Amino acid sequence: MISISNLNQNSKTLLKNFTRAFVNSKKFVQPESFSFTKENQSKVKDILKNYPEDHKESALIPLLSLAQDQEGWISNAAINEVCNITNCPRIYGYQTTKFYSMFRRKPIGKHLIEICTCTPCMLNGAEDIVKATKDELKIDLGESTEDGKFTLTEVECQGACANSPVMVIDGIYYENLKTQDIQKIISQIASGKKPKPGPQNEN
Ligand code: FES
Repeated sequence: MISISNLNQNSKTLLKNFTRAFVNSKKFVQPESFSFTKENQSKVKDILKNYPEDHKESALIPLLSLAQDQEGWISNAAINEVCNITNCPRIYGYQTTKFYSMFRRKPIGKHLIEICTCTPCMLNGAEDIVKATKDELKIDLGESTEDGKFTLTEVECQGACANSPVMVIDGIYYENLKTQDIQKIISQIASGKKPKPGPQNEN
């Protein structure tokens, strides 16, 4: 039998990455059904009123967004339900959620960390911010922490280039970041506190 202690460093890293990918994939289960909550059913009606009766498909994106707001992500069942409501071929729903990166196609942790890696942020150190965050959480981009508290992802321009590099956590912007800000922000959120939003280089 092969013992782990006999593996070289490359093999150990490969095994670790495979195990992590397996653990992350095991957590990802597609629900068999989806339905909007009572409150959201009335929002669905309001959204549909914005479009002509014979062009319900125009409500595809707003309804997919509503489904995501409800569940935190969009399952296959949610896409199918939205396509039923809008009379869209299901493939439109799958293509739309695949094309727009703001749609999340798998469950996320309690807190979503989005780091901008577009050009201005990249030129101002986004790569170091990504690395510091990965090191702090011990996960890679696209993964969630074992305790389900954090999901880490990279995103395109968040519209705050003047204060780059930028990270958005649960919709709140943290700007002018330095690597030493990361540990403080994440630990405060993990303990239920609210870190100071906006530029981190101002008191
Ligand atoms: S490039 Fe990062 S906010 Fe615009």
